[in-house]
Amino acid sequence: MIDKIRVPYTRFFDPASPIIACEHLLNSRYVPDTIIARDEQMEVIGHNLSAILRQGEPSNMYIWGDTGVGKTITVKYLLRILTEGLKAEDKDILIDTVVIDCTAFSSEIPACVEILTQLTGISMQIGRQFYQYLNDIWSIIDKKAHEHTFYTLILFFDEIDAFVSPDNILYQFSRALAHQKIQSSNVAIEIITASNQKDFLATLNNKVQSSARFRYCDFPDYNDKELYEILQLRKDAFADGVISDDVILYCAKNVADRYHGDARRAIDILAEAARIVIQTKGSKITNEHIDMAEKVVNDRVTIDMLKRMSLHDKYLILSVYIANNVVKQTNSKTPAHSGVIVVTYRKICELLQQKPNGETYISTRLTTLSLRQLINAEYREGRGNIRYITLPNDIEAVIETLFQIQDIETIKNNYTDVESIVLSKLKRPLARSTKIDFF
Ligand SMILES: Nc1ncnc2c1ncn2[C@@H]1O[C@H](COP(=O)(O)OP(=O)(O)OP(=O)(O)O)[C@@H](O)[C@H]1O
Ligand SMILES: [Mg+2]
Repeated sequence: MIDKIRVPYTRFFDPASPIIACEHLLNSRYVPDTIIARDEQMEVIGHNLSAILRQGEPSNMYIWGDTGVGKTITVKYLLRILTEGLKAEDKDILIDTVVIDCTAFSSEIPACVEILTQLTGISMQIGRQFYQYLNDIWSIIDKKAHEHTFYTLILFFDEIDAFVSPDNILYQFSRALAHQKIQSSNVAIEIITASNQKDFLATLNNKVQSSARFRYCDFPDYNDKELYEILQLRKDAFADGVISDDVILYCAKNVADRYHGDARRAIDILAEAARIVIQTKGSKITNEHIDMAEKVVNDRVTIDMLKRMSLHDKYLILSVYIANNVVKQTNSKTPAHSGVIVVTYRKICELLQQKPNGETYISTRLTTLSLRQLINAEYREGRGNIRYITLPNDIEAVIETLFQIQDIETIKNNYTDVESIVLSKLKRPLARSTKIDFF
């Protein structure tokens, strides 16, 4: 047994860095004290939620804006102000706010379990039916309403587009009072949804649209000046003199011009630039470091996004990739159409011993993938209702990282079979006989 350690811990551990002063300021979970450039949106949301303070029912909301434009942080910030502000007041109104990250809780039962867990503070188990969980939620609401003059449950379904078939859950919560699932009348249930898909509401069925009556709140892209201010809130992450305002402005301008002002990406680029400087034993972050970091972050964002997809969505992406490679070998300038993608997908499923999904499902997934800009789908004049589908370049570049090596090997070994299926659907021969390496 060692009774005394003689090695000073600083030999292996380094609490002080010449580059980073306060690391958590670069973490995406850090919530700054101020929210930049979102006053207008906070007023709209705040004005709507104010109905609760008058014991009324606010409208349900749909918050839309591209990735990283502050939807999550703004809603969370406002909900915090509301609940803390209310506590300080002398009103007997109780508000519970439940945030459901739909990328993690993407179907009815896990979402209800999460709602119950957040409401009760007790971790719940999965294993019962959807309506049983709903009944538990209605009972809790009734109980809380009994104990207060007015009770409101605010459900924030963040990234709602990741929810698989959200119609029913949205319907149940938006109609709970009208359907008298809750006995008490001193209750409001508010649903806030957020997504970066502009057309998401149109994908809901009419019954849900008309019962939930979501009110739009638009989050526009940040411009370079706004991003600059957002990045300034994180500047204390760096040791003195490591980053200049000019470099911060350079980063803000790049992200505003190239990535619709995605604040998350801008913060990640600063963090990555710091990592590069530390690795190369530099002392200052320069514009070149920002450029290098941008590339690293870009690849990472694409891979993360793709990795979160379901297995069959990945197969569809792979089908788009392979089908278009075969199309190129026929010297055709017209990309693969959805029919070609379907046969390629079926062949891939067969080779990887997976049961393929039906055509309607595939068609819906292609629409969703296209809305998320993971594939490009376009109609062409004079070609009717046929979608021509390609992959964006940045996805092509990382496609191999999505699959297990043995799956890639299986497809490579059977490439000629896949190719001939695509060619027969295209009704076209190869323009040359030499085989192109597609990975
Ligand atoms: N107005 C702002 N002021 C300060 N920080 C911000 C602001 N907007 C965004 N940020 C920061 O940028 C990051 C991304 O913001 P957020 O997660 O709210 O984006 P989002 O719109 O929800 O994106 P997504 O659609 O990908 O979920 C967070 O770390 C957040 O702290
Ligand atoms: Mg978000």
